[in-house]
Formats: sequence, C-alpha cells, structure tokens
Amino acid sequence: MDTVSDITSRLDLVTFVGSYVKLIKRGKNYFCCCPFHNEKTPSLSVSPDKQTWHCFGCGKGGDIITFCMEIEHLDFKEALEKLAELAGVTLERYQKHFTPNKDLLLEAENFFAKQISLVSAKVAQEYLAKRFLSLDDARRFNVGYSPASWDALVRHFAELGISPDVLVSHGLANKNSRGGFYDRFRGRLMFSIRNNVGRIVGFGGRILDGDEAKYVNSPESTLYNKRHILYMLDKAKTSIRERNYCILVEGYMDAIRCHIAGFTNTVASCGTALTQEQAALIKRLTNRCIVCYDSDKAGQEAALRAMYLLQEEGITPRRVIIQSAKDPDELLLEDGGAEKFKLSLKNAMPLPIFHAHLRETDLLDEATKDEALADLVVGLARLSPFDFRSYKDSVSKILGLYSHDLQSMVDRARNSAEKRSDPCAFVTPTGHIDPLKKLESMLLAVIWQEPTLLSKISPDEIMLYVEDQDIQNILFALSDGVTKEKLEEEWLLRGEIRPTQLISAGNGYLALGFEGISLERILHDIKVQNIKLHYDLLNKKAKDGSITDDEYKDLLMYGSILKGRNPRK
Ligand code: UTP
Ligand code: MN
Repeated sequence: MDTVSDITSRLDLVTFVGSYVKLIKRGKNYFCCCPFHNEKTPSLSVSPDKQTWHCFGCGKGGDIITFCMEIEHLDFKEALEKLAELAGVTLERYQKHFTPNKDLLLEAENFFAKQISLVSAKVAQEYLAKRFLSLDDARRFNVGYSPASWDALVRHFAELGISPDVLVSHGLANKNSRGGFYDRFRGRLMFSIRNNVGRIVGFGGRILDGDEAKYVNSPESTLYNKRHILYMLDKAKTSIRERNYCILVEGYMDAIRCHIAGFTNTVASCGTALTQEQAALIKRLTNRCIVCYDSDKAGQEAALRAMYLLQEEGITPRRVIIQSAKDPDELLLEDGGAEKFKLSLKNAMPLPIFHAHLRETDLLDEATKDEALADLVVGLARLSPFDFRSYKDSVSKILGLYSHDLQSMVDRARNSAEKRSDPCAFVTPTGHIDPLKKLESMLLAVIWQEPTLLSKISPDEIMLYVEDQDIQNILFALSDGVTKEKLEEEWLLRGEIRPTQLISAGNGYLALGFEGISLERILHDIKVQNIKLHYDLLNKKAKDGSITDDEYKDLLMYGSILKGRNPRK
C-alpha cells in the first residue's frame, strides 16, 4: 500500500468533515452547509461509502485530502502531513514541511510562556493575581509575558541563528532609525492568537501599567487576518457544536474567563466590529449565537450591529445584558457570577426586542424620537417578514404603538429599501447589473486585500475613473495612509455599513470571476466601460442631431479607442 492510501484508509471522511462543520444525516449520506461558499441551506454531501464529498452549490468536491487542503488552506503536501499526524502514520517519503511562520511564532510563544514564571517576571505574576488568573490558567490558555527589556526576544532568536529581519517580517520586532532592532512587545501580558484549526497566527499584548496603548496586536498579514479570526475558536469549536450555540464576547480576558467558568463555547471578536467572515466561521458550527459584548454604550451599539450581521448570515442572535458588571470577565468574578451569567444567557433577548429596548429612552425624548424610530424601523425591515412577525406585538408594546401601525411602517421601509435598488447589487432599473459599479467594487475589494497596490494608481486616475463617492473616499483615505483598521473603526462609530457591503460585493464578484484577476485588468475594464458610456451618450446625441463639433471629435476618438483597444466592442 502506498503512503497516501495508507493514510486515507485509516481515516473516516465523515468524522473528519464533522470536526469542522455540523453534519446532518439524510438517508445514506451526510449533509452540511458548504464551508467554501456562502449559503444558508445545506448543499454539501458526504458519502461514507465512497469516502467522497461534493457540493452541489459551488461544484467543489473530492476526497479527504482535497477537503483538508480546501478547509485548511494547505497544499497537497501540507494536507498529507496533517492527515498523517491524525492517522498516526510517520511520513518518510515526505520530509516535514518547514513553515517558517508557524515555527517562528511557536518559538516566540514558548519564549513568552517561559518568561512568565521566572523570578524576574514578578510584575507579570502580580498582574495575573490581580486578574485572578493562576499560572496554570496562563499555561492552559497560552498566556505569556514579554519582558520589559528592549530586545529580549531579538536576542533569544539571535542565539537560535535567526536574524532580526525575519522577526520584523513576522511582526515580532521593529527596526529603529539607526538600523537597530527592538522587540514589538515589551513588558506586556501576551495572548496567543490561533486560527480555527489551532495554528498560531499572532499575538495580542496587554499593558500591565503605564499609559501606553492598552493593547498591541500583531500587524495584519496573510497569516493574521483579523477579519477571519475569532479568538479561542479552536478551543471552543467542539463545545459550540455540542451545545449548539456560541457565546460571543469582546475581549481576550472575557473569553478566557468564560472558558475557566465552564462556558467553553465562547469566542471573542477582539474589539473590532464583527465581520461577515467571522460570522461565517460561527455559521459552520451552529445557527445560534448569544452576544455578550460589554455593557457600555459602545458595547451596546457594537452588539446591535453584530446581531444584524449574524441574522443576515442565517444565525439567530440573542443579546445578554449584564446588569451589575461591565463585561463577562467582571461578572464571572463576582460571588455566584457563573450562576448569574447562566441565568442571563437563558434570558437573552432576541434582536427585535433588544433593538427596541436600546432605543427606548431616545424614543421618549422629543429631540431624538424621530431618528430613533427610523433607526429601529429600518432595522426591523431588514428581518425576514417571518422573523418580524413573531416579535411584532411585543415590540409595539415596548414602543407604545398599535401593532398594525408598526407593521405598516416596517412594510414601507422594506419597500423603499427594495426600490432604492440594493446599494451593492448594482442592479439597474432594467434588472441588469451596472458593469461600472461592479468593476468599481471589484477594484475596491482588490485594493482592500492589498492596499500597497495603490502605489500603482495615481489619485488623478481614482478621480477620473471611480464614480462611486464612497469607493472614492475609501481609496483616497487608504492612499493617504489611513489604515484599514482605522477606517473600520470609523465606520463602526458612525454606523456605516455600505463600505463593508461594497467590499464584500466586490469580493463576491472577484470570486465569480476567473482565476488571478489583476488590478491592471480591472482598471483597464473600468477605463473601457467609462469610454463606452461616453461613446453611447455622444452617439445618441449624434443620432438626434444635438451633438456639437467638439463632442463629435470626442465621439470619433472614443470610437477608435474602443475599436483599437477592445476588439470585442
Ligand atoms: P477592552 O478595552 O474592553 O479590553 O477591549 P478588555 O479585553 O476588557 O481588557 P481588560 O479586561 O480591561 O484587561 C476589548 C478587546 O478589544 C481589543 C482586545 O482584543 C480586547 O480584548 N482591543 C482593545 C485591541 O485590540 N486594542 C485596543 O487598544 C483595545
Ligand atoms: Mn472589556
């Protein structure tokens, strides 16, 4: 037997797939929502007899190796290594694949873990005690300490023969103006961040005292892409599936405290606005989620947005409001905290009720009444009529409205939302997708993935070719050096959702397109589309005789460009 079949014959595809997604047995086969494309009804089937899988939605399929490659983003060799480990087979022919990323970050994690129990780390130990964490807890949840010296980690790696440049590229060190190197994380409590399969991807470092930034996190990289990470998901996965719901908290400490208290189905979104990608990770495991964000104003608004996002991903969200504490960590440290938390989980509010309560005081104030009601009604109109119907009466009661009045407000909001032609589908009144809008959102998505690409476009070109005001603004901000995180934070604060919708629409179009669609290609197409638009306009004028001499010259020029550059036209 060759190595590959030796490995695959020892493993069961159903068990393997089931460790990532919730499988439902139907007849001989198992079904689940396909983790490789966005869907709300299961179309991926797994055959236990044939040990094969196939998605009727996106057409992907194969055996256990291809599934492993797809879901873990691995190449063949890496996937085989992972499966070999699972099957208990030692690979001889395939040398262990060296992943510098992984090994380097693991080495750093070990270093931070060792530091925290040293005599010299008294401050860190005192801090742990203050937060009611034992050294055992720290070990269990991979909490370490980065010493307060300038270059402890740089020196540690130098001893292993690894140059500081490599550390810089892994977000562990910085280079100063004189060409020297210093640690990125200094004197901080270190939280290891792992992705959904438990691969370490970065760190979050909390300050112990002083007034520097509260948290320093690893910089965004292909490995650490915040949008795709839920802290502790690797540890919570099984429990989320078993209990069939997920607890979503804000912070590292909240997540750790919940796990210690036995709420092992907890993950943290780490302070940023919940993303569609994170919601999709949850959707793989369950369709219920209880949002336990902080009880302050920012936490309430963030929870509301997260809940609508979850709802749109097909997850039923509920909101826990902790009365006596600012966050779950604080609550669970109170006397009888776990019991209180359990009770509030049981009483968690459905989205429509939570939204109504959140706007209750504003609704009573003449000055804010209209805006609050509009905000609520627009939100309710985003729910499916079915979801809304179940809560119509209780929401009306909270608002002091007749339920049929609320119904007609929501109906009106829903109709006008539909008429306003979905801001992201870019569907023209005749039912076609506006090609220019589509290309512009693709441009945005490409640049969002890799902002350095902006160096290839001049501001003039952006002005000239991008019509959508929101997209123009984002591109200008990025080329001014504003970071993606900063922009997302602003959108969150202002409650803007269109920018993220535009990006995901663009990503959607990119995903539908052919492999390797490039920036150059998109820019070229945008230019051609623009010219074509002008050409058509002038052509119409020429036909009805209203064209001026200058416009006629332009018409000829556009015509020849279109013929020359784009033979299809
Ligand atoms: P919080 O400020 O609520 O911190 O941010 P916390 O986790 O409750 O920390 P403690 O309990 O005061 O020690 C919530 C989360 O937001 C992210 C972190 O993931 C944090 O856990 N965050 C916050 C950052 O990444 N950077 C920041 O500057 C602040
Ligand atoms: Mn907090």
